[in-house]
Amino acid sequence: MKKISLGIIGVNGRGRLWRFWHKPENGVVVAGGADISMDNLQKFKERCNPEAFITTDYRELVERDDLDAIVVATPDRFHAEQVIVALEAGKHVYCEKPLATSIEDCDRILSCAETSKGKLMVGFNMRYMPFVRKMKEIVDSGRIGQIKAVWVRHFVGMGSIYYFHGWHGKRENAASLLLQKGSHDIDAVHYITGQYSVKAAAFGGRDFFGGNKANDLECAVCEQRDSCTDSIVDHLDLDRKPERKYCAFRQEIDMPDNYICMFELGNGIKFSYNECHFTPDYHRNYTFIGTKGRLENSEIDNTIRIWDRKIGRNDQPDEIIDMKQNISPEELELGHGGADPLICDDFIKMIRENSEPPVPALAGRMAVAAGLCAQHSLDNGSIPVELPPGNRIICDSMIF
Ligand SMILES: NC(=O)c1ccc[n+]([C@@H]2O[C@H](COP(=O)([O-])OP(=O)(O)OC[C@H]3O[C@@H](n4cnc5c(N)ncnc54)[C@H](O)[C@@H]3O)[C@@H](O)[C@H]2O)c1
Repeated sequence: MKKISLGIIGVNGRGRLWRFWHKPENGVVVAGGADISMDNLQKFKERCNPEAFITTDYRELVERDDLDAIVVATPDRFHAEQVIVALEAGKHVYCEKPLATSIEDCDRILSCAETSKGKLMVGFNMRYMPFVRKMKEIVDSGRIGQIKAVWVRHFVGMGSIYYFHGWHGKRENAASLLLQKGSHDIDAVHYITGQYSVKAAAFGGRDFFGGNKANDLECAVCEQRDSCTDSIVDHLDLDRKPERKYCAFRQEIDMPDNYICMFELGNGIKFSYNECHFTPDYHRNYTFIGTKGRLENSEIDNTIRIWDRKIGRNDQPDEIIDMKQNISPEELELGHGGADPLICDDFIKMIRENSEPPVPALAGRMAVAAGLCAQHSLDNGSIPVELPPGNRIICDSMIF
């Protein structure tokens, strides 16, 4: 079996996916890493592969002839440049979502991917989550007919921990949480329905986080650390996320934390998407309504309920699928409901079999375009925004 060598740009945080890739016994070696932090690089070398090449200049990593593929796991605003440099060097690329922070950058990446001898795969691991796979299987089976409406509610109960104590809280770093968080859900809906967004509108704002605290105030030294609902002190992970230490109510925060969006997808499907970052609970709740029935998941009891359409009042579902039967507790422990090892394996399979990317670059572009058009609407009086015309042409090719 041919050995495959990977290099990772951004080795801490999400870059720790190396643990699912580095399997010398299976012919896959994570042979290098690039990061702006030498401390992160040293830890990566100790924990992943003492033989690994490390550098603070990602171009030195990309230039190496001994690497087949590059994983881009840096903060969003660096993706476009690093993905393009890696594709131009002919490497296969795994890019974390979102693909980029502007539609223009996504299109530059897509053009580059067309001519590169490397293949580009986007890290939409939600496609590998058991409930998403099951919902797609049911929709594809035709049981609930033609999809006409999709309602998604994302209760981001860990909102401040994930997004408001660190870099995501500033729009210059992440553009919109509709990319950072929402692109997962938007892509999952595109994937399950087989249709991309064509129009977006949104309400929203910054309703909870941000405020008048000093930008350099750290929770650890704040005099309100024991009474504040969002003090990160007990959740601070200095090893993995050292930068998430600042007050979630600091002045520089300008990122909305509450989004109510509407999208029109191809085939006239109406999709409403709610994302709130200060709910007490964490839950992704998806509903698909078709001409023959309705489908809804619950992460609370790990079920999918199906109602078949018939005349009369049908409060109770016709079928309840217990997802706990479909996945072992061990798999659930393995990152995002078992999705992370699966998507990592699929990237290697794509390289070995020279097959098409299982999560194509276009899907990454369409999720970014939908999120940014919704953010644009939100910023401009909630006007409906058509996704840029090029998309419709690309959409016709329907590559999911
Ligand atoms: N698919 C998922 O479920 C998922 C989950 C979390 C994060 N992500 C994505 O992964 C990416 C990384 O997010 P994160 O939370 O791990 O970020 P992070 O802030 O923890 O940074 C990740 C690593 O990149 C390094 N880094 C920062 N800037 C760099 C640069 N210019 N060049 C090289 N290295 C640099 C940091 O030192 C760190 O080691 C983001 O795009 C995020 O959206 C995806």
